[in-house]
Amino acid sequence: MTWKVADVRDEPRLTGRFDAIITPFVMDCFDQAEGARVVTYLEKHAAPDAWWLHADFHLPLRGWERARAKAILWLMYTVFRWVVSLPASQLSPIDRHLQSAGFVRQAQELICGKLVRSDLWYRSSQ
Ligand SMILES: C[S@@+](CC[C@H](N)C(=O)[O-])C[C@H]1O[C@@H](n2cnc3c(N)ncnc32)[C@H](O)[C@@H]1O
Repeated sequence: MTWKVADVRDEPRLTGRFDAIITPFVMDCFDQAEGARVVTYLEKHAAPDAWWLHADFHLPLRGWERARAKAILWLMYTVFRWVVSLPASQLSPIDRHLQSAGFVRQAQELICGKLVRSDLWYRSSQ
């Protein structure tokens, strides 16, 4: 196994195609444009039949969960932008980028009052 540490925005030179990609709490670091570029780059290195496990914070569509998540996300982004100069200021969901790349959601789990979402995506060459 080879471990590579790199800034994914710099498109680290990867060789081969990967059967699975996991992005736990990574994509929330990027704004919409950067997130799209990162997904497009990673997707090129996914095998024709590939899994993509994505977990991230989530803004529910309605209800008290939405109001609570809005407050928590605002606080998180404010702190992280200040402490580590995070480029993103809000969540930029990657669903449509994955769909454009041919991935289909197979399962979804929402936890912590719908604040955290995990999605399992699969792309089939068939
Ligand atoms: C909130 S942490 C999540 C860490 C871990 N995946 C987890 O679930 O506990 C965000 C991670 O995204 C990584 N990250 C942020 N921007 C990145 C970038 N441009 N290239 C590569 N990794 C990045 C950070 O190094 C950090 O490990």
